[in-house]
Amino acid sequence: MNLPHKKDDPAYRTAMGRLLMLYTQVDRLIMEACAARIASAPDEAAKLGLAKQVGDESKHVTIQHAWMEKFGVRQPKIISDVQEAAILKHFRQLDWLDFLIDMYLCVEALGSDAVEKVVPLADPGTRESLRIPLQDELDHIAFGVNRLQQELAGMNAVDREAFLQGIPGRIAALNHAFHNMGLEARSLFEAVGTDYDDLCRQVLARKDEILEEVSRPLAA
Ligand SMILES: [Fe+2]
Ligand SMILES: [Fe+2]
Repeated sequence: MNLPHKKDDPAYRTAMGRLLMLYTQVDRLIMEACAARIASAPDEAAKLGLAKQVGDESKHVTIQHAWMEKFGVRQPKIISDVQEAAILKHFRQLDWLDFLIDMYLCVEALGSDAVEKVVPLADPGTRESLRIPLQDELDHIAFGVNRLQQELAGMNAVDREAFLQGIPGRIAALNHAFHNMGLEARSLFEAVGTDYDDLCRQVLARKDEILEEVSRPLAA
């Protein structure tokens, strides 16, 4: 219904500009949180994985900034400086396991899932601007899931069960915090043509899928 010239529709442009800004800010925060984590990461593979991700997120920020300028939809910051500082503080004080859950299951996997739901509805230029970033996010998610599987493999059965049982609560708490940030996610997603309730249902289904993946034992 809203197909042919949606890229020229002012409401669409504003909402998409705000969503792109939000995504770019999140990428930038991920970049900083991962960079801060390199020094204390438990081993060389983790340090290298984090460093690669820092480079990827920096590239995503550059791609998105260039696209927002070209599209002419650059918006002011969506996440305030105070909120940004609180988010970085949250990630800094996490231990390695909780960092893996919050960063990779929550922000990377579920965040990317929400962005992916917007792609088919987006104008061609925006879709193209998201192509490389979303491909890289798959690597980041795989890194996080693999590290969590490794950590679980090193636990005894009781600890492992307790750890797995705690994950949904962490995800729910972060989701709650996200919705309390006043970012008007629903109206933004709806203004670009997304059915927000359906999007939330699909993200929840993705959460179940990723939890199942994490709890799957590592292949020998
Ligand atoms: Fe990214
Ligand atoms: Fe990422």
